[in-house]
Amino acid sequence: MPVKVSPVRKPVKKPPVSRSDARIKQIAISTGGGDAPGLNAVIRAAVLSALNRGWACVGIRDGYNGLMLPEQYPAGGLIPLTRESVRGITHLGGTLLGTTNKGNPLRYPTQLKDGTLTERDRSDEVVGAFRKHKIDALIAIGGDGSLEIANAFARKGLRVIGVPKTIDNDLDKTVITFGFDTAVSFATECLDRLHSTAQAHRRVMVVEVMGRYAGWIALNSGVSGSADAILIPEIPYDIERVGEAIEARVRRGRDFSIVVVAEGAQPKGGTRSVVETEIGRAERLGGIGEKVAKDLQAITGKDTRHVVLGHLLRGGTPTSFDRLLSLRFGAAAVRALDEGQSGVMVALDPPTVRYVPLEQATRRMKIVPLDCDTILTARDLGICFGD
Ligand code: F6P
Repeated sequence: MPVKVSPVRKPVKKPPVSRSDARIKQIAISTGGGDAPGLNAVIRAAVLSALNRGWACVGIRDGYNGLMLPEQYPAGGLIPLTRESVRGITHLGGTLLGTTNKGNPLRYPTQLKDGTLTERDRSDEVVGAFRKHKIDALIAIGGDGSLEIANAFARKGLRVIGVPKTIDNDLDKTVITFGFDTAVSFATECLDRLHSTAQAHRRVMVVEVMGRYAGWIALNSGVSGSADAILIPEIPYDIERVGEAIEARVRRGRDFSIVVVAEGAQPKGGTRSVVETEIGRAERLGGIGEKVAKDLQAITGKDTRHVVLGHLLRGGTPTSFDRLLSLRFGAAAVRALDEGQSGVMVALDPPTVRYVPLEQATRRMKIVPLDCDTILTARDLGICFGD
């Protein structure tokens, strides 16, 4: 019997496409809230990782304003993101897309006919704009507010991956956010510089740092920069105690002191220092450094000055730690989309980057635990918390 020989089939060489390549053709990237060093590095990593999968990329200008207020952008509210546009930006502060903390689509400030301002939910409009521009997925880089918006978009059926950003480090479910290390490093350098002038004039220097309702920046820079007192929102302070600590130092022959104050710190039984509140944006904190300096001068009789580091903490080149973390987060966000994930945030869980539901990440703020070892270390070193 003749043997039937089947024709030799040549193996079909499939192009190395990713699983979700059939569905994702274009992604958008948005940066929202206050800027933080490392944003550009996230953008670069996300863009290159997407382009390498054959996906096109656009950036939305100023949070979601590029989609909500197209008339304000004659050159277009969307920026095409190519290899050229993300070249050489890893080390640059700021964000090439622009950002805003006034454009929350869930609570958009809107003027009524009588001139008063109110908040309106415009998220459906944004989702519609995504469809109109054939955007298949979104990488939303931002803090608690931006990730809450991202979560709302995910619930409305958009494919969304969140990337946690804030110098404040107050986002839950990630060990650290990019921007924090740069802010702490700069604040520490400032404390080093202030030591010599404080010592030369035998003064008390009070240094106010950002951080909103969490004391991470104040605590970490204060301990690293050898502060004598650190006042954080998590430990309401008694100014008399801080005065006593300064006077005790004088008795030991140390007639100068450095006090670091988080902008959200508050005296026992008192309130936070708020500069202004405005519809559609978070309250602005500030002024506590000046208050603490005045009070300490009155209590100790020592010449006292205050310095507000403010937005300087948000500027400049990201540290290598923040650059690497940002690049890892950007690439991981694209991998998540490629794996078909949505509604999750990339998070650092050393030694790896993992994904946590946005729902969980935005549930609560990460404040400094009072029993954490950095607080214990500070207490062991004799640093006063005003309690
Ligand atoms: O959340 C980042 C942050 O820099 C806070 O530390 C600070 O309270 C706030 O933003 C300041 O925001 P703005 O840019 O509106 O001054």
